[in-house]
Amino acid sequence: MRTGVWLVGGRGSVAVTSIVGAVALRAGLAEPTGCVTELPQLRSPALPGLADLVFGGHDVIATPILKKADALADAGVLPGRLVTALQPELAAMDAEVRPAPRGATQAETAALVAADIDEFRRRHELGRVVVVNVSSTEPAAEPHEAHAALDVLREALRGPVPVLPPSSLYAYAAFTAGCSYVDFTPSTGARLPALAQLAHERGVPYAGHDGKTGETLVKSVLAPMFAMRALAVRSWSGANLLGGGDGANLAQPAPNAAKAASKQRVLAETLGYQPQGDTRIEYVEDLGEFKTAWDLVTFRGFLGTAMRLEFSWHGCDSALAAPLVLDLVRLTAAAHRAGRSGPLPELAFFFKDPLGDVEHGLSAQFDALVRMVEGLA
Ligand SMILES: NC(=O)c1ccc[n+]([C@@H]2O[C@H](COP(=O)([O-])OP(=O)(O)OC[C@H]3O[C@@H](n4cnc5c(N)ncnc54)[C@H](O)[C@@H]3O)[C@@H](O)[C@H]2O)c1
Repeated sequence: MRTGVWLVGGRGSVAVTSIVGAVALRAGLAEPTGCVTELPQLRSPALPGLADLVFGGHDVIATPILKKADALADAGVLPGRLVTALQPELAAMDAEVRPAPRGATQAETAALVAADIDEFRRRHELGRVVVVNVSSTEPAAEPHEAHAALDVLREALRGPVPVLPPSSLYAYAAFTAGCSYVDFTPSTGARLPALAQLAHERGVPYAGHDGKTGETLVKSVLAPMFAMRALAVRSWSGANLLGGGDGANLAQPAPNAAKAASKQRVLAETLGYQPQGDTRIEYVEDLGEFKTAWDLVTFRGFLGTAMRLEFSWHGCDSALAAPLVLDLVRLTAAAHRAGRSGPLPELAFFFKDPLGDVEHGLSAQFDALVRMVEGLA
C-alpha cells in the first residue's frame, strides 16, 4: 500500500523532521516513539506501513533538505548520527520537494500544483497521496463571496484577483487531483463551504486544524478533570515562548492572532463556559526549535475556596509534531481507501481546533479514534 505524503512547506522544521523520522524508521535506525498508530489499540492492517510512505512536496524556499536536517541536528531536534547515516536518502529528497508554482491566475496556480502531485503519484506508482499543510501559519482569511459555493469559486479563481489564501488553494488543488488533505496549521485550509463541496464531489476526506502538541494537549487533559470534579475554573492564562521559523512567523500580529484563537477553543467547549484569561505567544529567538509554555489556572472549590494550579511545558515542537504527521497520513489514507469522504471528526485527537462538533477531552477523543480504526479494519 505505497502511499504518498505531499508536504506543503516541505523544507520547514516539521516537514524535515517527519521525513528524517520516516526514513530512519524504515532503515531500522529509530523507534516509533510518539507515533500513536503504533500503540497496540491502534495498530491495524488497514493502515499503510510507515515503510510504505513516499515523500514529496512544495516550498517557497530552496534550502537543501540535508542542510535543514543538519541545522535541526545542531539545534538538538534530530540526532546528528541519524542525519549522517541518512545523507544519501536526504540528498535525494531535494528533487522531490519542488518550488511552489505560480500561475497568472489562482486557477493556473492550482492546476500547476495538482499537476506536480499527479506526476509524483504516477512516477512512484502510489495508490494514494495525502497532502499535508505544514507551511507557515497565515493570517485569518478575508471573507469573500466565492468561498460559499464551488461554481462561484471556480469562476473567481480564473480572475486576476486572488480569492483564496495559499492553504485553501493547496486544498483546492489536492481535492482536484483526487487527494485527501490534512491541515496541521491554524490557517483556513479546507474550512470553506466551497471546498467542502469539492471534497464531496471528488469523494476525498480531509482533516484539521492545527496539530495539538504542547500547551493545548495538556489543557485537553486538565480541563475535563476540572469539569468532572465540578470545580469552577475562574481564569486560565498561558504564555508561550518559542523560537524557530514558526516563532519568527508568529511574531507578526496576524498569524499570531490566528494561532492564539485556535488555542482557546478547548476550554470553552470542555468546561461549558469561558474562564477569564488569554493565551499569549511571544518569539524568543534564543529558544531555537524549543518552546516553553507557562500556564496559571485559578479555580474555586467547595464553599468557594480559592486555589491555583501552575504548570510549565518545555517541548521540542518538531519532535512532538512529526510523529503525528505520520499518524495522520496513515489514518487519512486508510479512511480514503475505505471510501470515506468529507471531514474526519474522529481525528480530533490530533488537533487544537478540530473540524465538526466534537468532544474536546483527550480521553474521549482517543476512544473515538480507536473506534474509527476498528471500523476501517
Ligand atoms: N511544531 C509544532 O508542534 C506545531 C504544532 C501545531 C502546528 N504547527 C504548525 O506547523 C507549521 C510548520 O511549523 P514549522 O515549525 O515547520 O515552521 P517552519 O517555519 O520551519 O516551516 C514552514 C515552511 O513553510 C514554507 N512555506 C511558507 N509559505 C509557503 C507556501 N505558500 N507554499 C509552500 N511552502 C511555504 C516555508 O518556506 C517553510 O519552509 C506552522 O504553521 C506551525 O504553526 C506546528
